[in-house]
Amino acid sequence: MIFESHAHYDDEAFDEDRKELLISLKEYGIDKVVNVGASLRSCEITLQLMKEYPFIYGAMGVHPSETAELNEEKFIWLRKQCACDKVVAVGEIGLDYHWKEPEEAVQKLWFERQMELAREVDLPVIIHSREAAKDTLDMMKTLRAGEIGGVVHCYSYTKELAREYLNMDYYFGIGGVITFKNSKKLKEAVEYIPLEKILLETDSPYLAPEPYRGRRNSSLNLPSVAQAVAELKGVTYEEVVETTYRNACGLFRIPE
Ligand code: NI
Repeated sequence: MIFESHAHYDDEAFDEDRKELLISLKEYGIDKVVNVGASLRSCEITLQLMKEYPFIYGAMGVHPSETAELNEEKFIWLRKQCACDKVVAVGEIGLDYHWKEPEEAVQKLWFERQMELAREVDLPVIIHSREAAKDTLDMMKTLRAGEIGGVVHCYSYTKELAREYLNMDYYFGIGGVITFKNSKKLKEAVEYIPLEKILLETDSPYLAPEPYRGRRNSSLNLPSVAQAVAELKGVTYEEVVETTYRNACGLFRIPE
């Protein structure tokens, strides 16, 4: 059975067929899903999805590009939701310099606040870091992120940087990008990262693997990600599926 560690089934891309799709996941071997909050609205929908579907767990957090919506009052609301049953992480949080809004100082402020929140409520974090490698790592070191634990989602940096995250005992979310022809740097990183620190993810509806690149992604595409990881690591497909399942249950403290 496959553990989907990062999806956004609250996204409007699933409005037409959300229920049919989610109900069908089990028969395709997708056993557990973490639906990841990216805005306050998506956190609200995640809470509903968790109630409706026994196999869906949730992460509560605001994506760096959405942090302009946060204020003290909304942050209190976010903290409260972290205590809900089946909330397994704070995320996705971090820095995204690909998009220039909001300004870096705002992104950094709420990254730090949400890291502190994770420490306070004793949950691991789901990190989003895009074109912000140095600042993300510097902040995580300063905030002693290793004590909090978590996963760097959609890992996109080098093997050298992977070593830094391994030193903090972090996991690495690997998704459809691993199947892209131009992902040489990521393939090198995945060869280097121990299988015991890898989680499978899709980031649905984004980042569909080849040959579906550019189309709507869903957890049904996870087998091709697992297959690509298996080939790079020189292990069987089954070993990738079983190990990453165990990894995710361990990180998110979900009984297997
Ligand atoms: Ni995401």
